[in-house]
Amino acid sequence: MSIEQLAETAQAMVAAGKGIIAIDESNGTIGKRFEAVGVANSEDNRRAYREMLLTTPKLGEHISGAILFDETLRQSTRDGVPFARVMRNAGIIPGIKVDRGTHPLAGFPGEVVTEGLDGLRERLREYYRLGARFAKWRAVIHIGEDMPSGTCIEVNTHALARYAALCQENGLVPMVEPEVLMDGDHDIETCYEVTEVVLRSLFDALYNQSVMLEGTILKASMVLPGKGCDEQVAVDEVASSTLMCLKSAVPAILPGIVFLSGGQSDEDATAHLDAMNRMGPNPWPLSFSYGRAMQQAALKLWAQDPANNVARAQEIVHARARDNGLAALGEWTP
Ligand code: 13P
Repeated sequence: MSIEQLAETAQAMVAAGKGIIAIDESNGTIGKRFEAVGVANSEDNRRAYREMLLTTPKLGEHISGAILFDETLRQSTRDGVPFARVMRNAGIIPGIKVDRGTHPLAGFPGEVVTEGLDGLRERLREYYRLGARFAKWRAVIHIGEDMPSGTCIEVNTHALARYAALCQENGLVPMVEPEVLMDGDHDIETCYEVTEVVLRSLFDALYNQSVMLEGTILKASMVLPGKGCDEQVAVDEVASSTLMCLKSAVPAILPGIVFLSGGQSDEDATAHLDAMNRMGPNPWPLSFSYGRAMQQAALKLWAQDPANNVARAQEIVHARARDNGLAALGEWTP
């Protein structure tokens, strides 16, 4: 696969005013989201819910790509159209989550490492045949007492780089996601320091493993105080801290950065992204790759009556996409 093709895909993922919808929850995670709204976690309910999301009218106006879970990439609409084709017809690039989740890091209680490298080359080849053009791998970093350890950061960024190199070998743009969690009572300065160290380690590992940054997208967490921190901060402080951290650790050649929402409210996730873009120009397009902040309101409404609420739930999905698309331009108004 040529770097030109990878770079073209990466640029399309962060096209002006567009972002990514993350609907790649594993069957376990979507089960938790369904349980909270009283929906049974059956394969057909998962299919019907993802069909509602992916067939949202005019979704491609604000959405450049969607990250799917393995099962979803193999599923079709009720009328038998494969989701990958639905997406292509809507101008939405199919993406796929390829990591196999986090597991306890031996010797480091409380810390985790993301697994999924075994057999990844073969899986990526199949995903390409099924239509995927980018992939996602999420590493998780906890902040706590004596955490994160240097070892935890190193093993996770090493794995991210191995995954990224394999993606590029097989024609998929790697979306590299080192998520620094919001859980805890740490302050924003601690989050800044940890995020900077993690990003530096990540870009070192990508360089050491010959990953071409022109064909790579970073999925970053924002620099925020922990959820349990007494000192919460204003939107502009989150935006300026996140920007400073990214500018100090992320090479300018990267085609774009997208953010995860990580448990922020819908409004906060949009406001923070909007503020960062208002503070531009920035070295890269800054956009979104939200899961919960794109879906939670629509899921709630759909779950009340899945047979009859599809169109109304889709209006919510479209509105969230439009708001976040405007935030990606720094043009959102609350
Ligand atoms: P959230 O936006 O809900 O954090 O999910 C994004 C994602 O894909 C995490 O891996």
